[in-house]
Amino acid sequence: MGLREQIDIEKLPSHVAVIMDGNGRWAKEKGKLRVFGHHNGVKSVRETVEAAAELGIQYLTLYAFSTENWNRPKLEVMALMELLVHTINNETKTLLENGIRLNAIGNLKALPDKCYKELQQAITQTAGNTRTTLTLALSYSSRWEITEAVKRIAQEVKAGSLQPEDITEQLFSNHLSTAGMPDPELMIRTSGEFRISNYLLWQLAYAELYFTPKLWPDFRKDDFYEAIIDYQKRERRFGLTSEQVN
Ligand code: IPE
Ligand code: IPE
Ligand code: MG
Repeated sequence: MGLREQIDIEKLPSHVAVIMDGNGRWAKEKGKLRVFGHHNGVKSVRETVEAAAELGIQYLTLYAFSTENWNRPKLEVMALMELLVHTINNETKTLLENGIRLNAIGNLKALPDKCYKELQQAITQTAGNTRTTLTLALSYSSRWEITEAVKRIAQEVKAGSLQPEDITEQLFSNHLSTAGMPDPELMIRTSGEFRISNYLLWQLAYAELYFTPKLWPDFRKDDFYEAIIDYQKRERRFGLTSEQVN
């Protein structure tokens, strides 16, 4: 039986978040420049998006560029931004054909103009799609996002449109850039690193974490299926006892 057939379609996560990591090491292993790894990571993005959409996963969120990544060598940052524009340009048609809605979270205003415009255009073009929402976390960091949410809540309180006692977890969630999305039930990180790297800190509170040593450019549909199968074997207790859950 193939991996895909082992997946229980009734028990799919509604939201999968991914930290796409290991491009640089993948390239280095091959004696190439880091950028070569980024270019080869695009195929893995395509496979992952396709796999998620085919299964019927509603939300897929990919960590593509962190706030901290701005501090990388200038040449690498520039190459990543160009790759982004290029990829969005090339893939919009496929997104439309597959019913995928593009979305982005992060400090998008920090992106180069061209990137920002391409991105907004693709978001607008795919806005009517309903099968899967693909969110790119770009120039994103969770602490930045949380700080922005706090600022907006404070402004509403200051303006008198919100009372401090009305601040609830739900209200706070609604002020994050992921407002309206369910929290990810599953978070996948490639490249064998066991950390969160400032990704969706609030939203991942009860996510199942899945780590694979595979480097991102080697990640394929079967790897995604393996993560889902692993997730489906877990018992999610949310603080209860095993007996209570069963
Ligand atoms: C992930 O791969 C892509 C981005 C962070 C943009 P890395 O570039 O972090 O690759 P490694 O972790 O150095 O191997
Ligand atoms: C996290 O990867 C960010 C992205 C995948 C975009 P990093 O490679 O930047 O994370 P650290 O620095 O190893 O924690
Ligand atoms: Mg890395």
